[in-house]
Amino acid sequence: VANGLAQTPPMGWNSWNKFACNISEKTIRDTADALVANGMKQAGYTYLVIDDCWHGERDARGFITANAKAFPSGIKALADYVHSKGLKFGIYSDAGTKTCGGRPGSQGHEYQDAITYASWGVDYLKYDWCSTGSRNAEEAYALMSDALRSTGRDVLLSLCEWGTNKPWLWASKIGNIWRTTADITDKWSGKHGYALGMLDIVDLNEPLWPYAAPGHWNDPDMLEVGNGGMTTTEYRSHFSLWAMMASPLIAGNDVANMSEETRAILLNSDVIAVDQDRLGRQGRRVAKDGNGEVWVRTLADGKRAALLFNRGETPVRLTVNWAQLDYPAGQSLKLRDLWAHRDLGAMKGSYAATVEPHGVVMVTLTP
Ligand code: GLA
Repeated sequence: VANGLAQTPPMGWNSWNKFACNISEKTIRDTADALVANGMKQAGYTYLVIDDCWHGERDARGFITANAKAFPSGIKALADYVHSKGLKFGIYSDAGTKTCGGRPGSQGHEYQDAITYASWGVDYLKYDWCSTGSRNAEEAYALMSDALRSTGRDVLLSLCEWGTNKPWLWASKIGNIWRTTADITDKWSGKHGYALGMLDIVDLNEPLWPYAAPGHWNDPDMLEVGNGGMTTTEYRSHFSLWAMMASPLIAGNDVANMSEETRAILLNSDVIAVDQDRLGRQGRRVAKDGNGEVWVRTLADGKRAALLFNRGETPVRLTVNWAQLDYPAGQSLKLRDLWAHRDLGAMKGSYAATVEPHGVVMVTLTP
């Protein structure tokens, strides 16, 4: 997109996965305070995004208002507070007549809403796809993209139409990220109503690696790390896979009340650095043998990231070889283990490790 934003995948926090419609200005203020106090802002989690259900009704002239009970001080004051913490502020709407939570959508009010958001100081819009009837997705998203641009404010645009209309084929000039799947749920795998377990999302998002680049990224949905439905090992795998796939890292847990294990995952600066690599190439799976998988990602300056991933219930020995990295076997590469936080020294030809059930070993390799 011409807005120049998201040169690396956006990082931040969103209210939906943990709080759904149980949000208030206190939730958002507490989260802003926590992002600063717990080191997440410093680590790059810049965007604080309010998801669905902040809305009240439209006023007599059609302007959208906030739910006065949950947000008595109004959205402008809240955005000012978030900005005063050095964070950026995001909000949610929908291309249809109603949001997925049944609040007023933006259909027919696109320019009016864009002007309102800009006047509030919005930096990020997540734009959903419920109650859209027979609307054409590309047209609907282009309309809001144009409306935002016309305000003169830089607003990151997040498309949320779940991959239904293959946005990776048309959205790179319209928005900065596009959801590629149905909603994530806090489970290792499987279908859960309309939502998908983490692994099911991975398998849908992985083949889309050619479409990611600086400015526009595949979005396999927000993180569930710390929400309690998976083990710490599984959350490490979730976070590592998102980093390999150059995904937006949008935390979805209660960051004001999180365990040390959760904090250590979300603040793993080595894994974040892979996600945020400036070359902006999405990683991919290069080998699969039963439950064992090898993933690689090409990084800037000739570096590589490799992920050894075990989907199964027993430990497996997995190997990444230099051919999978596009390096000759004789090339000496320096390895670093990103979860053990340990330099492993220089190696040639291949690297093998035993990977625990549902776990990963993640390394960077530097010529
Ligand atoms: C859809 C989106 C979710 C969330 C909800 C809110 O399901 O995919 O991420 O925004 O709507 O109602």
